[in-house]
Amino acid sequence: MTLDSISPLDGKRLLLIIGGGIAAYKCLDLIRRLRERGMTVRVILTRSGEQFVTPLSISGLSGEKTYTDLFSLTDEVEMGHIRLSREADLVLVAPATADMMAKMAAGIADNLATTALLATDKPVMLAPSMNSQMWHHAATQRNIAQLKQDGILMIPPGSGQLACGEVGAGRLAEVDDMVAALETFFRPSGPLAGKHVLITAGPTYEAIDPVRYIANRSSGKQGYALARALRDLGARVSLVSGPTNLPEPAGIETIQIESAREMLAACEKALPADVVLCVAAVADWRTSQEMDQKIKKQNGALPPLDLVENPDILKMLATPGDNRPALVIGFAAETETVAAHAQAKLDRKGCDWIVANDVSLKNGQSVMGGDHNQVSLLTATGTEDWDSAPKDQVAKRLADKIEQYFT
Ligand code: C5P
Repeated sequence: MTLDSISPLDGKRLLLIIGGGIAAYKCLDLIRRLRERGMTVRVILTRSGEQFVTPLSISGLSGEKTYTDLFSLTDEVEMGHIRLSREADLVLVAPATADMMAKMAAGIADNLATTALLATDKPVMLAPSMNSQMWHHAATQRNIAQLKQDGILMIPPGSGQLACGEVGAGRLAEVDDMVAALETFFRPSGPLAGKHVLITAGPTYEAIDPVRYIANRSSGKQGYALARALRDLGARVSLVSGPTNLPEPAGIETIQIESAREMLAACEKALPADVVLCVAAVADWRTSQEMDQKIKKQNGALPPLDLVENPDILKMLATPGDNRPALVIGFAAETETVAAHAQAKLDRKGCDWIVANDVSLKNGQSVMGGDHNQVSLLTATGTEDWDSAPKDQVAKRLADKIEQYFT
């Protein structure tokens, strides 16, 4: 996923209820557009909706089973209507007919769609579509007022030529407008909304030859946890990751790289950023030349490895200049005299904060690859020693510190 294409819909789940209206055909395009943006779309098609679009075309686009009948025992065993209504982040009804809205306003549950709408604990959005007389009818307007009072969200219909030949209000919102309404709904809000955070995580692999490489034991867990914690505060997060076994977090632009030089190039491409966190355990050295062929054994003698130093990404990002992020945070993984080494690193790298941790083996357990971390935070104003905690909690605490820095 590229920087420009990351959508607030990425990783989100929609339950789309397609009602019976000629405009149901627009939902086929809607499903395609939502899936392109990384959204999972599961569909309930009402009986009248089936007159306009087929379960087959919907499933072809959604990549999921299309649910049509409340009393299908097989469906109830596989996915009960309660679960169906709750395994989503949002329920959208499009087209929402006058009849469907009347039932919703009255709390009627006489089919799968209306039952799911009554059973859901998730926000519900309606995109009404009907003839303009029906739209302006006092009963419809009364129902809409009731639904709004019940907390239901609306994507208002447009005006224009209607399928029945009349002209007026009642046209299902255009697909672009429905996508925009969903993006607005899911757009991150939070104290770090509008901030761009760049994070490096994981190890780097420095190829020696086509089969061997220099690496280290970093799992990427702390960097990924920070990416999620900062995303949850509303930041736009770019995560430049070396090889790990971790799934790419939803709603985060993850750029996979192998070597330190690739990591540097990806970071430079992701700039400008407001905050950078260099959490990656970057290999300090690489061989001066990557061999094209596998190096063969040489009569028992070790082939010499000529090592050269890798670029120091943290130091480069911390260098004063127009593109320097306002807050540059480095990590210091040490196995001895942690505090002294961390203080020296703060001065040497030119960064604003250092998060120092002891990665020596404790009772045979290493921080690297483990789920806990015990860190100290060094800033210009002093040092805070934090208690050992799960990496998710360390991430949350550091994310809160970053929030405080900006507020
Ligand atoms: O110098 P040292 O490797 O101990 O510094 C650790 C910090 O510097 C970490 O934040 C690490 O991500 C960063 N670093 C880097 N590029 C390197 C080496 C370290 O960004 N080549």
